[in-house]
Amino acid sequence: MNGNFTFHNPTRLHFGENAMEFLKDELAAFGPTVMLTYGGGSIKKNGIYDQVVAALKAAGKTIVEDGGVMPNPTLEKLMDGVAKAKANNVDLILAVGGGSTIDYSKAVSVSTWCEEDPWEKYFVRFEEPSCRIIPVGSVLTMVGTGSEMNGGSVITNHAANLKVGKVFGPAVFPKFSILNPRFTLTVPRRQMVSGIYDIMSHILEQYFSGTDDNTSDYIAEGLMKSLIVSSRAAVKNPEDYEARSNIMWTATWALNTLIAMGKTTDWEVHMLGQAVSALTDATHGMTLAAVSLPYYRLIKPYGLKKFARFAKNVWSVSADGKNDEQVADEGLAALEAWMREIGVAMNITELGATEAMIPDLVKATFRLGGGYKQLTEDEVAEIFRQSL
Ligand code: NZQ
Ligand code: ZN
Repeated sequence: MNGNFTFHNPTRLHFGENAMEFLKDELAAFGPTVMLTYGGGSIKKNGIYDQVVAALKAAGKTIVEDGGVMPNPTLEKLMDGVAKAKANNVDLILAVGGGSTIDYSKAVSVSTWCEEDPWEKYFVRFEEPSCRIIPVGSVLTMVGTGSEMNGGSVITNHAANLKVGKVFGPAVFPKFSILNPRFTLTVPRRQMVSGIYDIMSHILEQYFSGTDDNTSDYIAEGLMKSLIVSSRAAVKNPEDYEARSNIMWTATWALNTLIAMGKTTDWEVHMLGQAVSALTDATHGMTLAAVSLPYYRLIKPYGLKKFARFAKNVWSVSADGKNDEQVADEGLAALEAWMREIGVAMNITELGATEAMIPDLVKATFRLGGGYKQLTEDEVAEIFRQSL
């Protein structure tokens, strides 16, 4: 392990069927006015809203409602939320939902008292906040992003055709998160599967970088193995609590910074996928699935040993009598077979992208350098063509 790092994750987690019991005590640490953020209404149908409101009332809070956070939250919605948080001088933002609601809440938290243009400061210049930060807490209802225990916040700016993620430091991580796997049982199957692939992608983005022997990679392999077992069980029976709870816990550890320690990390699949989302508004995990295989097949020669290790350690591919390239190819074939088995999107056409969009997709794709190869613009275009 060759890197130098500081590891600090300040989010307190309450996990399990009784996790909501801890909400009232968590709320006691904050001031009287709570902005309750949520999405398009699933929490009203499945009863989570009522449980949260009951806890807020029991804790004596004044509730400022802020629903309607859309998947892939927009800059317009962010600015509406900022106005509401400011007008009510809120003390805590309680996000009840998936990654979109939690990401949005973090963005409101650092933008409400920001004297500069938040888009420019955080999502163009990637600066840290220099203003008062409103604390965020979360009740997670959809599994995948890891937003419940990290500083990520992804905002879509349709006017600029961009979807951009800013990774904030620990001051912006949720102060607490309530993780009850039962809350995820009402997530529609396609959304569940999208979240499962998002988790796999997060692990791969960190795994496929570096050439040193690194403990983080062994942890990543364990997380992938658990995810493969539990995803198969959950796809067969979405009501399988054991599988859904394992998936929830895996998602959190896949992106709470632990397995990035000592690594450069790649994140190019996310850059490609975010470009697709920016132009089509497609579901996050599906955009990642649709571009992953063309990307990995292109960079495989530059990280061949790691791709062979992935095949052996994650997919139990036998290396007997084969060279690294054959082993690596079998690993990617196993990944592809699993993707088809769980039912993710296998191309960007089914997500609404067209060949005519490729120049704009290329423009919207940040080309990072932390993985095994920094892509050229032509390679980005080629990956999108192969993903059609
Ligand atoms: O809006 P409602 O009505 O609540 O419905 C949501 C939404 O339609 C529904 N849902 C959530 N919980 C449910 C439920 N439906 C029934 N029962 C429940 N218990 O699921 C749909 C998707 O929700 P969303 O929050 O959009 O999904 P996800 O958690 O995948 O979040 C996606 C966003 O997170 C960003 C993505 O880019 C995207 O904008 N990401 C955030 C990251 C981070 N913070 O680190 C990293 C990720 O790579 C990702 O980029
Ligand atoms: Zn993701």
